[in-house]
Amino acid sequence: MNGKEKPIGVFDSGIGGLSVLKQAVKVLPNEDFIYFGDSKNAPYGTKNLDELKKLVSNVVEFLISKKVKAILVACNTATSATVDDLRKNYDIPIIGIEPALKPAVELHREGKILVMATPVTLSEKKFNILMEKYKKDADIVPFPCGGLAELIEKGDLKSKEITKYLTEKLKDYKSSKIASIVLGCTHYPFIKSQIHEIVNKDIPIIDGSLGTSKQLKRQLINLNLLSEKQEKGYVHIYNSLQDPKVNDLSYKLMTNV
Ligand code: DGL
Repeated sequence: MNGKEKPIGVFDSGIGGLSVLKQAVKVLPNEDFIYFGDSKNAPYGTKNLDELKKLVSNVVEFLISKKVKAILVACNTATSATVDDLRKNYDIPIIGIEPALKPAVELHREGKILVMATPVTLSEKKFNILMEKYKKDADIVPFPCGGLAELIEKGDLKSKEITKYLTEKLKDYKSSKIASIVLGCTHYPFIKSQIHEIVNKDIPIIDGSLGTSKQLKRQLINLNLLSEKQEKGYVHIYNSLQDPKVNDLSYKLMTNV
């Protein structure tokens, strides 16, 4: 098979990365995508680095066995902990995702920018370098949300548990001035409307999926790897749980939410 017509591999610790895949399909409609959700080993966001590296390496090997031409790491946690190693070990383009601080700072809104993400993402060097870059221009608050991705993994995106979690977590910020909220975990875009039920509706909630998808497209163009197909590409979804319910939910999340 010609390199251009190979699929693109996408992965996350579970269903969260589907929020990025949805955007990638819009930006690159003629590409084929193979998605791997590692729900069996979710969450990644509270694991230690060695464990995380092992899990990610297994997933990447699976995608490589599917002959992908590029890999999109649709997980902020896996990006912060493993993307540098992956780039050293594989000679295909590897695109990561990180909390979208730049667009949040560029809104120039008054108040705090809350960066919701997993504990691993917020404690890793990558995020701290990013924060250093913008901290003189904005009041940035790292906002670790351990446990939230697990609630989203359960699949009931409107659950009372999620509302309770968010209400409790955001209670100190409700009345204070929030400039914007950055969703630095790919699971969180699926509960954007629940967040907006708690904080004021005009507070912008920003995620990095569009920027990352555009970056993927730029890389494919630069490396002459863009598909030349005219028809729509396919999306194949795999999940380490091998549970038909998770597969159904995954395809549903690609269409409905
Ligand atoms: N979706 C992942 C992220 O973007 C992490 C969720 C988890 O903790 O597994 O960080």
